Order: sequence, then C-alpha cells, then structure tokens
Amino acid sequence: MIPPETVQAIRDAARIEEVVGDYVRLRRRGTNMFGLCPFHDERTPSFSVAPAKGIYKCFGCGAAGDSVRFLMELEHFTYPEALRNLAKRYGIEIQEKEPDPEEKAAYDHRESLFAINEFAAKWFHSQLWESEEGKLAGLSYLRERGFTDELIREFRLGYAPKDWHSFAEASTKEGYKVDYLKELGLLTKNDKPTDMFRERVMFPILSASGRTLAFGGRYLVKKERSPKYINSPESLIYSKRDVLYGLFQAKQAMIKEDRCYLVEGYTDVLALHQSGVKNVVASSGTSLTTGQIRLIRRFTPQVTLLYDGDPAGIKASFRGIDMLLEEGMQVRVVLFPEGEDPDSFAKNKSSDELKAFLADNEQGFIAFKTQLLIQDAGKDPLKKAEVLKELVQSIALVPDKLTRTLLITDCAERMGMDEGSLMTELNSILRRQFKKKQEAQEKQAQKTEASPQVPFPQAPMPEVDDQRPQAPDESTTIPDELSLRHRQERELLRLILLYGNEKMQALEAAEDPAVQSPELISVTTFILDEIHADDLGFSHPTFLRALEEIETLEQEQREADITPLFLRHSNMEIRTLAINLVSDQHNLSENWEKRYNIATEKEEDLLRRNVMQSIFRFKLEVVRGLAENARNKLKELTTSGATFNEQQVMQMLREIQNYVDLTQHFSRELHRVVLNPSR
Ligand code: CTP
Ligand code: MN
Repeated sequence: MIPPETVQAIRDAARIEEVVGDYVRLRRRGTNMFGLCPFHDERTPSFSVAPAKGIYKCFGCGAAGDSVRFLMELEHFTYPEALRNLAKRYGIEIQEKEPDPEEKAAYDHRESLFAINEFAAKWFHSQLWESEEGKLAGLSYLRERGFTDELIREFRLGYAPKDWHSFAEASTKEGYKVDYLKELGLLTKNDKPTDMFRERVMFPILSASGRTLAFGGRYLVKKERSPKYINSPESLIYSKRDVLYGLFQAKQAMIKEDRCYLVEGYTDVLALHQSGVKNVVASSGTSLTTGQIRLIRRFTPQVTLLYDGDPAGIKASFRGIDMLLEEGMQVRVVLFPEGEDPDSFAKNKSSDELKAFLADNEQGFIAFKTQLLIQDAGKDPLKKAEVLKELVQSIALVPDKLTRTLLITDCAERMGMDEGSLMTELNSILRRQFKKKQEAQEKQAQKTEASPQVPFPQAPMPEVDDQRPQAPDESTTIPDELSLRHRQERELLRLILLYGNEKMQALEAAEDPAVQSPELISVTTFILDEIHADDLGFSHPTFLRALEEIETLEQEQREADITPLFLRHSNMEIRTLAINLVSDQHNLSENWEKRYNIATEKEEDLLRRNVMQSIFRFKLEVVRGLAENARNKLKELTTSGATFNEQQVMQMLREIQNYVDLTQHFSRELHRVVLNPSR
C-alpha cells in the first residue's frame, strides 16, 4: 500500500514532458509539445503533451492521460508499478503503509502461492533438461514435435516425472506449505497427498507480466481414462477467465503488429510463435470471455481468429465472436484447409509462407459469417430470412456507428438485398437494445437508492442509425456524431470542468432588482441547481455518470477540485471525456467575438452568459424531445386502429401543449440572454 500523500507527491513531481520525453522526441509548439505517437504508427506528429496540465493526448488514436497513465499504457505497468517507477526516478522514498493484519494475511497468502508456482515452474523445467527421464521422455517428445530448444526455454516448458511423489518431496523439503500446494492443484487433496501432474510435459501459464499463475500438463502418449490435458484449478491467483496463454510472450509483437491472432491450443501458440508469428495467444480450453477480450484490447483492438476447417466448431464459437464485436474489437477470421490446425499447418511452411497465407486468407468476420450461413440456408427463403436476422443482430452489437453502416452495406451486397431493409431491421434491434438497457439501468437505479438520483420524466428517443445510407464523405469525417442533446450535455460538463469553481450570480438574484448585493455561487452549483430545478437529467450514459459523480463530490465537499480527479479517472470513458474537454479549451472571449460578433465584455459576464445559454439550450432540447415523444405517442394511438377514449387524447394534447409552451419559454430566455448579457 502506497500512502495517498506519497501518491500525491509522486504525481506532483512527475513532469509529463520528462516522462514522455524518455520515449518520444518532443518539439515545442506554442504552449504544447508534439511528437510521434508511441501508441500507434504514424509519420506526422499528432501526439501532444501539455506540460501545464500534466497530460498527453493523441489526436490520431485518442490515447490520453497523465504521466502515470502513460507508463501504465506504454510499459504495461500496473498502477503501483508505475508509481514505484516514477518514485524511483524522482527520488521519492516510498514508505509503504504497514498493512493491517487482514491485508497482510491476504498479501502473504497470494505471494506464497506465487512463490510456489515459481518454484514448481523451475523444478519442472529442470526435470526436462537435467533428469534422465525428462530428457528421454519429455525433451525428445517436444523436439520430435518440432519445437526448438530456444522455444522450449522461452515458454519455460517442463516435465513432470512418472513417480507419484517426486514433486511432493521436493516442494515440502523446500518448506512450502502442503495446504498451499493442494490449493494450487499441484498435489492431490487426500491425507497423503501425491503429485497431481505425472508423466506429462508441462506448460506454465503466465500472467501478462510473466508470473506463473497455473499449469497445463499434456500426457505424452494417449492414456485410457486420463484426459489429454490436466490444468490447474482456479485459485486465489488464477482465474482462467482473465488469462490468455502466451500473452506474456506475445504482447510486444501485439503492439508492434497492432493485431492479435487467437488460436485454440497451447501447441498452436508454440508452433506459430516458432514460425515467426509471435502475436498469438490461446484462450486454452475455455470459450472466450469478456475478461480475456479486455486483456487483448490493452494491446490492440484487432483480433484475427484462426480456425481449423470444422464448421460445427466454428458455429459454436459465434457467441464468443459476438462478444468481441460488442467490446468494439475489429474481428477477422482465417480458415485453415480441411484437416489442418494452426500447429500442423505451420509445421510444413516457412515463416514467409505462413505470413502470406494468413494475409491472403483473412476475411472480415461479417463476410465470413454471411458466407457460412448462406451456404447453409441454400435457396430456402425462410432460412435466408433467419440468417439475415442473425447477421444484423451481430452487426447491431458493434458500438461504432460508422462501422455498423459499412457492415450493413457489405452484408446487403453479399446477400443481394436492399440496404434500406437491412437498415430498418438494424434500427429496430437497436431500439429494442436501447429499451432493454434502459430498463436494466432503471432496475439498477432502484436497487442503489443510496446514490444520488437524477430523475427523468420520460425516456428520451433512442439513437438510431439513419435510414438512408449517408454520403461517404460525411460519415467518414464525423464518426459517431453526438446528437444535439448529447452535445449540450457535453458542453455543460465542459463548463463545469473548466470553470466550475468560478463565481457567478445566482439566477433569482440577478432577476430581482431589489437585491442589492447579489449572492455569488459557483458555476458548478449553478448548473446542478438549474438541472435539478426542472427535474432534468442527462441521457448519455457516460455524461450521466460524470454528472452523478460531480454531484456526489459536491455534496461531500463544496468546490471540490473535480477536474484533476477526472483527468485520471479509472473509468476510461470519463477520463477520455475529461481530457478531451479540457484540451478543447478555447478562449471564451475569442470564441464569442467570432460567433456573435460581440465586442469583448468583462470576463465574468461572458462566463455567466455562456453558462446561462448552455443551460437554456440544454433545457430547450430536452423539452423539444419530450414534445416530439408525446406527439409520436399520440400519432401511434390514433392510427393504431385500436379504440381510445377522448379523455385520453385530450390529456395527451394538453401534455403536448405544455411542452410547446415550455419550448417557447426557454427559447425566449435563451434569446434574452444572448441579447442582454447583464441579466
Ligand atoms: N484442452 C484441455 N483439456 C483437454 C483437452 C484440451 O484443457 N482434455 C485445452 C488445452 O488448452 C488445449 C486446447 O484445449 O491446448 C486445445 O485442445 P487440443 O487441440 O486437443 O490440444 P492441442 O493443444 O492442440 O494439443 P496437441 O496438438 O498436442 O494435440
Ligand atoms: Mn493440436
């Protein structure tokens, strides 16, 4: 545990331009510095560092953060590792807080398990190289399969002897606790424990930073009543859902090639790695999990799945692929010839041949799935319709709107279908998803009564993709453009982050000429009060979360320093948002002169005007949305053919009128603020 004061001292000492400067050549341009981005491949510098704010941001790939984040991303340090590294650099002594006994016990337990696994990996490895049995049985087996000594060392492969007690004896002689050995699955759980792994080649499973978490052991020859692989059980240090075999050896190449190949087995990883394709990992036996996908995403968003040509197996994995899409990954597929797996295929090929094969045979996932399913459906129109539904469902999972549109176009072409009807289907799925999500959120909200709630009277319209295909230039320049409402929510957050603690007059005070010395409140308080006064909320999930956190912080401590907290927020979306907002910082007055041709006025009036305008714009947009919703509901009711009573219709008409009045009210207010800054 690094005490918070030390963390603060480290953060204060670490100069972003120095930390980044170790890896990137920076040139000063104005107040900021620029260089080539270390996180993606580029020729012209789009990576900027703002020394005054202590942050970096890449305009090309969107990477952003402070000096701690920079080291975490680039060196793949954990948070404490990054802090320790900086502390050392800036000569700050870390006096780790004495952990309380419970923390200490948990820590000791974990560390003991790691120590045992490290010992076991070394022991199995030495058995392979040094014992007669290991050399004769294990090493010759691995060599026969074509694995080089170098590879065997790099992956720390080992051998577990035939005897029932060799490892038990060796490990207990070293003083390791039998309970821990059992817990790790190295010894059996009976009273007189014996070795769990016997007469097997051992594959240590490493964490991303190279610590041994678990083992897989393969028998040398097929045995009756014994599985081909025995794997360590889950333990305090091993959760197989969050581990990928080969990641430690693959991560550098994954960054460099900006791609990850995903295979099924340990030996596939070894074979490809040896053939020069080093950016390869396996989910080893489990179907792909979200945790594993996030691991990959730390290094690259592009995944290529390598399959042997067995259609049943492929279809079984569709769910895993949908998860990849959902996490915003770009998914490609390579199908190997019938009867070949990556291991066998790589064996007869040179490194160049293998790489060429992978490059020539990869397909976008949707294209691949379309092809496979169409083959199945044949000419049967019903089946074809089902295939279509399934494809569009996959596409609907992709979070990026532009990508979605491109996939729909592609899919329509392949199926010989009209794009418009696929879009319609897509939109209805998106609406359903949106509703479901919202219901889930509401349920969640009801459960967590304790956190502050921003009530919202009616569901806003879901964001759906445009029915018409967009002009290509339009859609490529503004991917995932925010709706007007979301832009206004974003603007309010920007004002809070940049000017939140500045003072301005409360609204009522300014309205009432009788008030002599008007009360001053902070911009943040003003905005929060205004949002509450009309019972409004944000609709964009990230913005809403940011707003809620701001409220909590304000409640805990007036005039909290929100911006630095957000700039290093652990949630990536909020962090990126904050960084973008802060670096969007345009000079208030400059902007205003340009837009409204108003001579520069006093900075505080300007701020006040800007805040008021943003509030009214936001409110205006909310009531417009509500009016629109109500109108649609009415239309639905009157055209559905169902009987409805007049009272109900009158009620709805009144509701609509109410919204229209409010719309007018807010536009008047807005207009007034623009014309008359002093009020
Ligand atoms: N697997 C497992 N337990 C088994 C069989 C398989 O955990 N009884 C997992 C292993 O992670 C294995 C992967 O599933 O690597 C793929 O299985 P398979 O293709 O049978 O194994 P390979 O690793 O390809 O082994 P080999 O090439 O030696 O047959
Ligand atoms: Mn195999």
